[in-house]
Amino acid sequence: MLETTIAPPGVESAVRCRGLVKRYGELVAVDGIDLDVRVGECFGLLGPNGAGKTTTVEILEGLLERDGGDVRLFGLSWDHDERALRERIGIQLQETQLPEKLTVEETIRLFRSFFRRGREVDEILEAVQLTEKRKTWVSRLSGGQKQRLSVACALVGAPDLLFLDEPTTGLDPQSRRALWELVEAYRAGGGTVVLTTHYMEEAERLCDRVGIMDRGRIIALGSPQELIASLDAEHIIEFSLPEGASLPPREELLALAGVTALHQRDGTVQLVVREPHAALPALLDALGRHGTGLADLRTHHATLEDVFVAHTGRQLRDG
Ligand SMILES: Nc1ncnc2c1ncn2[C@@H]1O[C@H](COP(=O)(O)OP(=O)(O)O)[C@@H](O)[C@H]1O
Ligand SMILES: [Mg+2]
Repeated sequence: MLETTIAPPGVESAVRCRGLVKRYGELVAVDGIDLDVRVGECFGLLGPNGAGKTTTVEILEGLLERDGGDVRLFGLSWDHDERALRERIGIQLQETQLPEKLTVEETIRLFRSFFRRGREVDEILEAVQLTEKRKTWVSRLSGGQKQRLSVACALVGAPDLLFLDEPTTGLDPQSRRALWELVEAYRAGGGTVVLTTHYMEEAERLCDRVGIMDRGRIIALGSPQELIASLDAEHIIEFSLPEGASLPPREELLALAGVTALHQRDGTVQLVVREPHAALPALLDALGRHGTGLADLRTHHATLEDVFVAHTGRQLRDG
């Protein structure tokens, strides 16, 4: 059995899993996942609700039994090195229920007591910008403050690896940015992060690499730039037709100048294009020839959301 945290030079993995499987009865929640997260990296699992993100990270965190596959964190396994691993990782669960009648400071002290080594309470309070709230009950905190407190609890043991499960879901934009800055500060100190999110902006902003997850599988993997570049065109034209109108033939739209792909869902059509300034007039022209009006027309630079659509034909957000 591997007893060492020292991996071969240059290839140290903070997380390495192979063939991870988790079933709930008939449902295969995690369907054979391989992952390598490098030390110092921020790795994101991006996918819609029900994709299997929480199940995956809870297995990696040693909180949930797997049905198959192998998991190593820093070369150690939960089966043999649980104590050593608990000291090295920090966990923020998707739904953290902190005791309502403890103050912020008491909560952090409680979590600090679980670890032999760790950071000072004052230092943590400062890092998560809750110093002014130290005497406030958890029940009196805003959503964003509670979320930062749960990250504080994950950071008190000075972990080498931090797991964040949907850290900003439900937060307002300002709280979200505060949490992003917290993650960036942790990384600047050399920490490794594994996070899950269904916000593509979050994955683009924070992650060095992203695994796009759907129905228990990783369907695309790479840096946000690589994934977007894999669309083979950087812009999206999205439009919808008026009620009852029918779309010109697909082949005709795909043959328009600079169009590389077409995705259609409900009443909305997306064209993946190289040059919107060439494709737009050609599109309007084609619609005009067929006497088809437009209810709505937008263009945007391609995002990870578009990568998801390209692989699944569905949107990230509406599941
Ligand atoms: N304890 C459980 N019992 C039965 N099914 C579960 C359980 N936990 C999760 N699932 C199912 O497994 C799938 C993946 O869930 P989850 O990992 O929570 O996805 P995500 O975090 O990406 O939203 C979903 O279909 C979910 O309903
Ligand atoms: Mg989840």
